[in-house]
Parts: sequence; C-alpha cells; structure tokens
Amino acid sequence: MLIWIFTCSVIFIIISDSLEGSDGCYYHAWKIPGPFSVPLVGSAFLVTHIILYRIFELVCGKLDSLQTGCAKSWVGSQLYIATMRPTDTEKILTNCLNKSPFYENFNDIMKDTLLTSKVSIWKEHRKMINPSFNSKILNSYHDIFVSYSREMVKFLDDKEGAEQTDFLPVIWEKTVDAALATLTNVKPHVIKERQRMITITVKFEEILIQRFHTFWLLIDFFWKLSNLHKEHKVLCQTAHEIAENIIAEEYKSYESEDRNDDTIESKRFLPNLTKLNRTKQITRDEILEETSFMLMAASETAAITINTVLTILGIYSDIQERVYQELVSVLPNIESSPTQEELNRLDYLERVVKETLRLVPTIPFILRYADEDIKCDPYVFPAGSNLFVPLVLLHRDPEIWPEPEKFDPDRFLPDEVAKRHRCSYIPFSFGARNCIGFKFGMMVVKVMVATILRNYKVLTVGMKSWKDIQWDYMVMLKAKNSRLRFEKRKF
Ligand code: HEM
Repeated sequence: MLIWIFTCSVIFIIISDSLEGSDGCYYHAWKIPGPFSVPLVGSAFLVTHIILYRIFELVCGKLDSLQTGCAKSWVGSQLYIATMRPTDTEKILTNCLNKSPFYENFNDIMKDTLLTSKVSIWKEHRKMINPSFNSKILNSYHDIFVSYSREMVKFLDDKEGAEQTDFLPVIWEKTVDAALATLTNVKPHVIKERQRMITITVKFEEILIQRFHTFWLLIDFFWKLSNLHKEHKVLCQTAHEIAENIIAEEYKSYESEDRNDDTIESKRFLPNLTKLNRTKQITRDEILEETSFMLMAASETAAITINTVLTILGIYSDIQERVYQELVSVLPNIESSPTQEELNRLDYLERVVKETLRLVPTIPFILRYADEDIKCDPYVFPAGSNLFVPLVLLHRDPEIWPEPEKFDPDRFLPDEVAKRHRCSYIPFSFGARNCIGFKFGMMVVKVMVATILRNYKVLTVGMKSWKDIQWDYMVMLKAKNSRLRFEKRKF
C-alpha cells in the first residue's frame, strides 16, 4: 500500500511539474532528430534513471550516430537539444545568455553568482567584476603563481622518487592559496580552514552526482526529506562560514589606516567588491556568494587542468621531452623562475595545454536556456528548450579534427587555428558569458606546469595512451586513476 501511494505521488508530481512551461515547442522539436520520446513522459523510459549524465549519454550517443550534428531528448516537460555544430554553438552562446534550470541545483551553495544567476543580475555583477581581470592586474599575479609553484617543487624534493598515488590534492592546496593571495588581500595562512574548502567541494559534488543518480531525489519534495539533503545543507553552511571569515578579514584590511584605493591590490576581486559595498552597489550577501564561488572556480579548474596536463605528458614522454627542451632554452638556469616575458615565449607548452583542453575539456559541457526561438538551419531550437553544448564532443568531431583521438599539440599552430571555425574549440566557453578567469587560468597552469617540468620528469604508472585514463564525470572531468611519479632532472 505504502509503495502504491509513493508511486502515485511520484507520478503526480512529475505530471504536474510537466504541465508547466513547454508551451509551443512541440512543433519545432518534432523535426529535430533524437530517440523516440513523448513529451511529458520523455525518453526517460529508455534509461534507468532520469539524470543529466544519462541525458548526456542519450543525446550525445545519438548525436554521434546520427551524424546530423544535433539531437533532442525529452525529460518530462524539459526539452534538451544538443548540438556539436560550431555555427549553432556560436548562435547559442551569443544569443542565449540565461542558464538552463539545471544550474538551480547549485542554488544552495551559490545562488546569485556569475555562473548561475539570471541575466539581469549577471550583467550587473559581471560589469563590477570584469575590471579585476584586466591584463595589468593579471600580470601582477605572476610572482605569486611562481612562489606557489616553487612550494610544489619543494614538496616533490622532499618526496623524490616516491609514487604519488594522487597528486591532485597537492596541486589543489597550492591553487587555493594562489587564488586567495591574488583575488583577495587576505594572507592565505590567516584562513585556517582553507584546506577544508577542498574536502567540502569534493563532497558537495559527490552528493550532487548521487542525487542525479537517484530518480526520486530529483524531485524537490523527496530531496528535502532525505539525509543527503541534510548533509548537503551542512556543507553549504560550512562553505559560507569559510567565505564569511575571508570577507571579515578583507574588511579588516579595508579599514586599516594605511589603506590606499589607488594601488593595484585595491582593484583585485574582493577588495574591489568590498569598496563597491561601501557605496551600496553590491550587498554583503551577494559578495559572500560571489567570493565562495570565485575561489572554488579559480582553484578547482586550475588544479584539475594542471593534473590532466601532467598526466598526459607522463604518458607521452616524447612530447614532454619537447616541452623540456623548450624550457631549457627559455630558462637556462634551473633555479630561476619564468618571468612574464619568458612565459610568453613558451609556445609549445601553450599548445600542449590547449591540446589537453581539447581532448579533455575540464568543464565538459555548457547548458543554456532559449528565451526565444533560435534558428539553426534546418531546425529551430524552440523558446523554452535547454541547449546543451557538449564541448567534449565538439572538440573531437572528426569533421573538424582529423584523427581526433591523437594527442597533437601542433593543431594549435597559428596556420591550423586559422582554418577552423572560432567555435570549434571553446574550453573557456564563448561570447559575453564566457569564463572570466580564462587568462588567469592559462597563466597559473603554464607557470605551475613549467616550474614542475623544469625541475622534474613526470611519469605515469601503467598507462600507454590518454585513453587509459578513467574519468570521473563529476561537474568537471577529473582523472581518477592518475598515479604520477616524479624524477629529479639532472643539470
Ligand atoms: C583553468 C581552467 C578553466 C577552465 C577550463 C574554465 C572553463 C570555464 C567554462 C567552460 C565556463 C562556462 C561555464 C558555463 O557556462 O557553464 C567558465 C565560467 C566561469 N569561470 Fe572558468 N575556467 C577555468 C578557470 C577559471 C578561473 C581561474 C577562474 C577565476 C579566477 C574562473 C572563473 C569563472 C567564472 C566566474 C565563470 C562564470 C562566468 C560568467 O558566467 O560570467 N574560471 N569557466
């Protein structure tokens, strides 16, 4: 009896949920290829759970075999359309600035942040935050990145030869400190619980995935009754407390007597927002959300990217050797760290990072929401649909990338780049709502990888090709079996 009541409630909630939205899309949607599906019920019966990653597999799996470049799937009333055609991608990322309701899953931890907020709030915040990412300010971070790279080398010096089962947490600690030291005026060591930011982020993502894998937990009513939700709430609260401590420290430094608003430090992300709070352009709660997210975005993406680059170079020792030779010629003295000018001359290393982000984009997909019909010949992506841009497929499309599974950094030689559509490669997204930390990210990744590889040779254990890497499909693409070993370079 109880099971019967439970099943009826689930069906009732799904159907009532389904009756909202979805008006007017059916006609256009019908013409887009995709697995057999019925609006309201969706294609979900084809799979065991209604989860995003199933949509991903379903739509993208279909996309691969259909060869039409785009496909649709209904999940209840929600229409998902995936496309891997660069021209469609450009239209979507230029015209649809609102995020898909999928991002509401992050609301408890980051509601009104750049990543998740509705266009009206996003526009205001982006305008306030953009100046903190200009080239002059970013260049001032160079020495900070170098000092944390040196700490990583010191860590390896103490452990030389020992197999690192998982190097990611080591890198991540350093990218958290680098993010604090650049985006705020707070000295990282003052924030005692900063290492917990990592465990909280990992646990938060695990819970999110567990939710997506459990059909009934997708329904808010049941999710809020679950133990997982209680755990999730505690995590969000702790994350906010840590961000609150960081902000309190920033306020202290803002109020200090020798404060000077003309310095480059005062224009960094958090000092700048603190100043804008005084003139009531942004509230303290909004600063809390943005800070919490920004520190997470800056540290996790960079750490994962560095770990993936090192893993891939550990597999392809000939390519690593070419990177090393470039490093030796640009940086003859092993003790010296790359200056900004030297960093700009590391062309091959840059191509290696780009090729890594092609094969394994740290953020594997982007989801936008169509506020209006988007014409993508011969289809119309109707208003109200969720538009899915699978970077991981776009970056491996054989029509654009010959031998797509081959790791070949020379695809990013200027002449080769000029032959491709500008939306055929978009690891940092594209258009007005692209990654604000794009240059920051490339810089920190290059500095850290260059410093490690100038000092150490990296080797992987038991891998012959990048295909031997197993990926954790969390919110980001993380290598889960990457065991690295480091050998000190003789000089
Ligand atoms: C290094 C590797 C990085 C990669 C591959 C990456 C990739 C991306 C992508 C694909 C998006 C779009 C996400 C979406 O629309 O769903 C994004 C957004 C964003 N990223 Fe990054 N990112 C990286 C580093 C960073 C860094 C270092 C920061 C901060 C310093 C940062 C801050 C942000 C922010 C704030 C957004 C939201 C932007 C907006 O909507 O206005 N990212 N990133």
